[in-house]
Amino acid sequence: MGLTMGLNLVLLVAMVATNILALYHLTASSFQPPTSPKAPHPVPDVLLHQLHTIRATVNKLTRLQQSPGSDTPASTTKPTVPSDLLLYSHLAPIASACHNHPELLHKYMSYIPFSLCPSDSDLAETLILRGCHPLPRRRCFSRTPQKPTSSLPHNPFPSSLPSSNVIWDKYSCKSFDCLNRLNPNMGFDLSQESSKFMSYKTELDLPIPQLMQIVKSAKSVLRLGLDVGGGTGTFAARMKLHNVTVVSTTMNVAAPYSEAVALRGLVPLHVPLQQRLPLFDGVVDLVRCGRAINRWIPLTMMEFLFYDVDRVLRGGGYLWIDQFFSKRVDLEKVYAPLIGKFGYKKVKWAIANKTDAAGLKNGEVYLTALLQKPLSR
Ligand SMILES: *[C@@H]1O[C@H](CO)[C@@H](O)[C@H](O)[C@H]1NC(C)=O
Ligand SMILES: *[C@@H]1O[C@H](CO)[C@@H](O)[C@H](O)[C@H]1NC(C)=O
Repeated sequence: MGLTMGLNLVLLVAMVATNILALYHLTASSFQPPTSPKAPHPVPDVLLHQLHTIRATVNKLTRLQQSPGSDTPASTTKPTVPSDLLLYSHLAPIASACHNHPELLHKYMSYIPFSLCPSDSDLAETLILRGCHPLPRRRCFSRTPQKPTSSLPHNPFPSSLPSSNVIWDKYSCKSFDCLNRLNPNMGFDLSQESSKFMSYKTELDLPIPQLMQIVKSAKSVLRLGLDVGGGTGTFAARMKLHNVTVVSTTMNVAAPYSEAVALRGLVPLHVPLQQRLPLFDGVVDLVRCGRAINRWIPLTMMEFLFYDVDRVLRGGGYLWIDQFFSKRVDLEKVYAPLIGKFGYKKVKWAIANKTDAAGLKNGEVYLTALLQKPLSR
């Protein structure tokens, strides 16, 4: 009991450290070189003490991480550390993940305070994808597009998105048109997007009108939702037309997905799949897991993801697993049992062969499931 609480405290402090690290780096980089006689502000003792504690904590946590199970270096913690906690410290967005990438973090925190930030959104993305999130705050001004238009669409399916509202520096394409020409399936071609979630072509489809009907006949209601791996936000866009508010988690991997979601008047949450969802327990009516959630996610991480999804869903809420794919044998032996552990009601459970080259080669299948969380536990 005492140990668990102690460790929880360690984790909490480590999380706080992510933000404090910003300050740490500032004190290290900007105040250090010119040891001028009149330092602007002496760092208060309290803060130094806090930094000291946090550094010690991060070191301790790192040591725990490096020797899982073997011997417990801290002589004070006699009983072994719960394996779950160690595992979580590998996966979770706590300071230890930043600590593992000091060169990236240092680069990210090297900037001139009170001026324009470096154009390093790639670096931020890289850190986040490595589990270093939340990122430390910075005291610089993030860059903005040079000639943005202020005539933004209300309709989440506008005929085009204004390219002038995106900073294209880090992309080879310099417009949404270019992205569409490159690959019309990336989700930026809104005329193509407008037909998504609307028709039933195979049993893997769950058209939104049908979803709404299912929910209605169960005497339930959808008002708030979360789309995990939401791409350019088309699911949220479609749900908006049904007066349902859906926020989408999305990363800017190789294209400005977050900007596209926002330009459609929808909410992009910039969080990676391994992060604890920034929502409180039991607050959403629906979670959709899109095709980003697939067999390439390590199983333990997937398990944490599903538990976190379960946490944010209200009792009676719906989980829609949309075209998840894996090897057929893994679905039977691994994923179906994992999903089964949650005790959800199977409203829809459809499996079909994945018939593209990779799918045939690996004996893969798709699963589309609509599951309802028990009303109470
Ligand atoms: C959404 O809300 C508006 C305004 O209350 C209403 O006119 C419209 O019919 C609603 N749409 C749906 C699909 O319920
Ligand atoms: C799916 O693939 C399996 C194994 O390759 C095969 O036995 C089965 O007949 C296929 N099902 C359909 C509906 O094509």
